[in-house]
Amino acid sequence: MQLQLFIPGKNWRLSLAELDSLLEAKGVKFAVHSFSKEFLVISTERKVPSSIIDDLGGTIKIGVTAADFSTEIVKRAFLQKEKEAQEQISRKIAVSGLVDEMGNAESEKTLFGVSVYCAEKPLRSVSKTIQRFIGSSIKRELSGYGKKSKFMGFAKSRRLPQLSHVEVLKKNFVENKAEILFCVGREQTFVAATVAVHDPFEFQKRDVGKPVQRKIFAIPPRLARIMVNLAACTEGKTLLDPFCGVGTVLQEALLSKVKAIGVDINRWCVEATSRNIEWLKHEYMLENADYGVLQGDVYKLSQKIGWEQVDGVATEPDLGPALRQIPTTSYALRIAEKLEPLYFGLLEEAYKVLKTGGRLVLVSPWIKTRSGKPITMGIEKKALETGFKRVYPFKREFFAENAAAPENLMSMASLVDAEERHKIGRQIHIFQK
Ligand SMILES: C[S@@+](CC[C@H](N)C(=O)[O-])C[C@H]1O[C@@H](n2cnc3c(N)ncnc32)[C@H](O)[C@@H]1O
Repeated sequence: MQLQLFIPGKNWRLSLAELDSLLEAKGVKFAVHSFSKEFLVISTERKVPSSIIDDLGGTIKIGVTAADFSTEIVKRAFLQKEKEAQEQISRKIAVSGLVDEMGNAESEKTLFGVSVYCAEKPLRSVSKTIQRFIGSSIKRELSGYGKKSKFMGFAKSRRLPQLSHVEVLKKNFVENKAEILFCVGREQTFVAATVAVHDPFEFQKRDVGKPVQRKIFAIPPRLARIMVNLAACTEGKTLLDPFCGVGTVLQEALLSKVKAIGVDINRWCVEATSRNIEWLKHEYMLENADYGVLQGDVYKLSQKIGWEQVDGVATEPDLGPALRQIPTTSYALRIAEKLEPLYFGLLEEAYKVLKTGGRLVLVSPWIKTRSGKPITMGIEKKALETGFKRVYPFKREFFAENAAAPENLMSMASLVDAEERHKIGRQIHIFQK
């Protein structure tokens, strides 16, 4: 059994849901052992290739664990400052094999870094002390091998002792196996070497580097990729975005080797999407990318596409007007009501064009209000009336038997992605025909 660590992006629930969905769609047997906003621990029969990071929109780093032990030891070592517990941790690291593999054979000095991810609150305040301690233990170990080393320190002002993905990329820490992840869970602590790191420049390039952009309407490429994965669309499948805009979801689908079909009512969008996809094909050498973009109205989608044609639909129709301030409940209700026909029309038509078993991943508005209670649309009720089944993002069978308290996650029927600065967030639903 392989234990792998995944450092999630900003919205860890979305990251975990994406990972579960992709592993399930790829037929990988897995179990979630531990989850928190800091890190996720997944076991698989065989090691998942580190290249999976390129398929994921919500994972920042992947590590392969080399040691794990009870968090009690970490508490004794750093809260009670027990020497014996500290030595125990140093020994665990020494025998983990992590140090043997570290460094670049051609370089005289081994540069390495340590990132501490702490899900256990009382230990968070000492996470910088933990980082320095682990760094010193590794340095000592390396000198025992006759290797000179340099421990990459941080500016004091840094809030958390964690290397960013950009730093890991720039210092070649993946190739040199030179970033150690020290992940303190509520019960168990894991030590791992980083084997893959997400490349933010690639997503940025697809966001602001494509020829046609439409900033306020477009979905971030990272979220678009998560939606493709939540739709369980893997290589060879066909995905449709009936509100394709400038083609962000389709781009991410094509990069996952999924066939993509886009529809938009606006002629300008149809042309913009085609231009963006041609650019993508050239930039990413996707000569065989299979796609089509059509002008059409969602209410007549099945006439345009035909019945039972696609494996997945992933789309964001309209989140309502751009708001200057948080609306009152009654105004938010009016926004939701106005959008209802478009969403309900989509549900009916998506059901027709999907093959049996195919998934619909749908973003609807999650409108903040002055009362504090967000307003959402009655999407679920209508979807069930249309014939869809609800897909819970977190199924019981995804969790290891000893995983602590997955019940809160299991009862979630949809996911929410809302940043502090947004007046309208996104509610993400998954349905199956
Ligand atoms: C929120 S935008 C989608 C943005 C897209 N995800 C992107 O990243 O560019 C919604 C799109 O739906 C299109 N649209 C609006 N009403 C439509 C309808 N009845 N049928 C099809 N498309 C429609 C608009 O032209 C717009 O491009």
